[in-house]
Amino acid sequence: MNYSTLLLQSENGILTITINRPDKLNALNQTVLNELSSAMDKVYNDVLIKAVIITGAGEKAFVAGADIAEFVALKDDEGSSLSKKGQDIFSKIENCPKPVIAAVNGFALGGGCELAMACHFRLASINAKFGQPEVNLGLIPGYGGTQRLTMLVGKGKAMELMMTGNMIGADEAKTLGLVNYVESSENLLSKTKEILNLILTKSPVAVSKVIAAVNAFYDKQKNGFDEEANLFGSVFASDDKKEGAAAFLEKRKPVFK
Ligand code: COA
Repeated sequence: MNYSTLLLQSENGILTITINRPDKLNALNQTVLNELSSAMDKVYNDVLIKAVIITGAGEKAFVAGADIAEFVALKDDEGSSLSKKGQDIFSKIENCPKPVIAAVNGFALGGGCELAMACHFRLASINAKFGQPEVNLGLIPGYGGTQRLTMLVGKGKAMELMMTGNMIGADEAKTLGLVNYVESSENLLSKTKEILNLILTKSPVAVSKVIAAVNAFYDKQKNGFDEEANLFGSVFASDDKKEGAAAFLEKRKPVFK
């Protein structure tokens, strides 16, 4: 598939998806959302893709939000279906069985912050800024932000950020647990790749079950402990577990398939 708003680049099993509308600070219009959805389908189905980085083009923005210009053209009754569509695409990212990391290289506002939060974890450049400024537009976050920001930073801070619309910098985002590392702009992608390369030496089956088990904590339909036991049961019977245990006992490095 040809993408008009995304750049896809594969290197050693890591697919970097770059949202590429730098003149609009990579705002999420319908084309970006549709292409992100297709790109994630490719990630699910392509065995050669082992992990994903999501980032933004240019030096200024990761993603500065949903495309506000497009809102004007939508009818009053189209809001909830727009929200549901964004939520479904971001759930595809959150539930991806392969690691998906956000490399936040600038503004991550509104839908951009929500996109970063749908990834499994986040690294930020020093100039990154996070915020949910929807109240300035008479809106609320609609792509999962009210839920994921609350999960990540707790109710009080999430309420404050969403009620004031204030932006926070990378260091505060790290203090709040919204990002794991703050790097210089030059080092952001290399540090992200370094972490992914370490993850890629581990059992891919086990990594996918970690993702599923942790996500179960936040799924109100699931009992996380039951889910963990089931997932533990499935990895316990896997070839990777046999190889991992044998390699430990034979004092060698495991080779996972
Ligand atoms: N939707 C559509 N276009 C956007 C956008 C968005 N969310 N964010 C930025 N842009 C566009 C601007 O309209 C401008 O386009 P133009 O050059 O054709 O006029 C371009 O991107 C550059 O943005 P600009 O506002 O000139 O940059 P800035 O450095 O002065 O300000 C921000 C940067 C991020 C503070 C500012 O762009 C902003 O507040 N954006 C909206 C953030 C937001 O409310 N997001 C939530 C949406 S629900």
